Amino acid sequence: MSANKESWGSRVGLILAMAGNAVGLGNFLRFPVQAVQNGGGAFIIPYLICFLVMGIPLLWIEWSMGRFGGKFGHHSTPFIVDTMHKNRLWKYIGVFGIWTNIAVASYYCYLESWTLSYVFHSLGGTFSGLDQIGVSNFFDEYVSLGESTFGIPYEPIFFFVICLLLNTWILSQGLAKGVERVAKIGMPLLIVFGMFLAYKGFTITAGENGAINDSSVGLNFLWTPNFDELWSPTVWLAAAGQIFFTLSVGMGTIHCYASYVRSKDDIALNAMSAGWMNEFVEVVLGASILIPISIGYLGIDGVVDLVNKQGGLGLGFRTLPYLFYQWGDVLGAVAGVMWFGLLFFAGITSSLAMGTPWIGFLQDEFNWRRRPAAWSFGLIVLVLGMPTVLFFKYGVFDEYDYWAGTVSLVVFALFESILFAWVFGMNKGWREITSGADIKVPGIYKFIIKFVTPLLLLWVFIGSLITPKGGDWAGALSNGWELDDSSIINKIKNSNLKRQLAEATDPAVIE
Ligand code: PHE
Ligand code: NA
Repeated sequence: MSANKESWGSRVGLILAMAGNAVGLGNFLRFPVQAVQNGGGAFIIPYLICFLVMGIPLLWIEWSMGRFGGKFGHHSTPFIVDTMHKNRLWKYIGVFGIWTNIAVASYYCYLESWTLSYVFHSLGGTFSGLDQIGVSNFFDEYVSLGESTFGIPYEPIFFFVICLLLNTWILSQGLAKGVERVAKIGMPLLIVFGMFLAYKGFTITAGENGAINDSSVGLNFLWTPNFDELWSPTVWLAAAGQIFFTLSVGMGTIHCYASYVRSKDDIALNAMSAGWMNEFVEVVLGASILIPISIGYLGIDGVVDLVNKQGGLGLGFRTLPYLFYQWGDVLGAVAGVMWFGLLFFAGITSSLAMGTPWIGFLQDEFNWRRRPAAWSFGLIVLVLGMPTVLFFKYGVFDEYDYWAGTVSLVVFALFESILFAWVFGMNKGWREITSGADIKVPGIYKFIIKFVTPLLLLWVFIGSLITPKGGDWAGALSNGWELDDSSIINKIKNSNLKRQLAEATDPAVIE
């Protein structure tokens, strides 16, 4: 048993910390890009279904698993699942719940560090007077570790280290004094900034300040349902992956935070408050900034092109700093500070959450103190994050996001939903969810958690494991199975990562 007796300071603090955990760069940068890459309106239907039948159930599963394990003094996934069943196997599967956090943190904190640096560049007027190409080039120059306007050598590494130091320092202050306090300041600010930018996003009018489209063009692109690819497992994998990523489920973060909830306290309502707050920030605020503004000025084709050619998460850095300046010099700088400031708060309240499972693990099982545990997290992330920094242009970053940030979440969620509903048992599980509950949990969720969630997860996983060429299932059944390049099996075989790293380290291949 551990001497780790930490807990949350207050209910508001807990909800804000959990919401801060969920609300992150995923809401503002990843969601819009996933939507664009998966056909806009074709993405939204699977996305919403995944929220209702996988997201919500997994929130309840993970919150109750966490509170349950916390009663036995455990705060990390391997030992939490170990309290649920005597078979040792589960403990090893539970290692996912620490590992995924560390792997995601390794690229996430790098992205977070860009937002910090871009706050200063917006303040310092770096983007004033640049055209769209200029702003986009600045980003390319930045991530290839080129010369920066501030004259700091290797500026991205500098900001990456600063960002990790900040995370480490806050983590070492503890749960209530560190994490909870940051969430109480960061979350309200983020919402205020987000509302302002969403308002600007909603009021774009073609012909004003160089806009070529009304904001409705971007919003329609996102929200007009499109049934063409509705049954493609690849789209479903992307939708499920996004729901998991954005809610922070399938990776052990929620187990850890919830394990510090007192055993008599509510989880049913708390889980819904944090989860729905995340969805509000994602589908209302997240969907109303990057996409409508970018499409307003660059057109749908322009944006789809940028995303496909230049890879995922850079869009918000390549376009917005330029587009903001179309509103005038002062507003341009202010909007830049708000946008990147909002991203920074969103990011840090999430990366702090990724640090806690590892820290809890060291505290509980090895009697480490909080401080050295926090430092060890910072150090590990620095080392594991370095490949995304150094080899960014080879797509290493997107590769981390695919394996750690999408596939492993779905795999782990599949295991834990089986553990919860079938091994631990649905009746016991339901008692855990509803005990101390401040809301009445709809009875239909007993059925959903037992059957729908695991089956859908299984379908998404197997479907994307062996996706046939072109997603043509009927054809594949009659003609022998040729795998699509988007199938997980082919991704393993043609591992980009291996090839890219080989290229990156062999100068002969580069030139
Ligand atoms: N949910 C966070 C986001 O949307 C990401 C996250 C992943 C947070 C893993 C904690 C753990 O950005
Ligand atoms: Na999120």
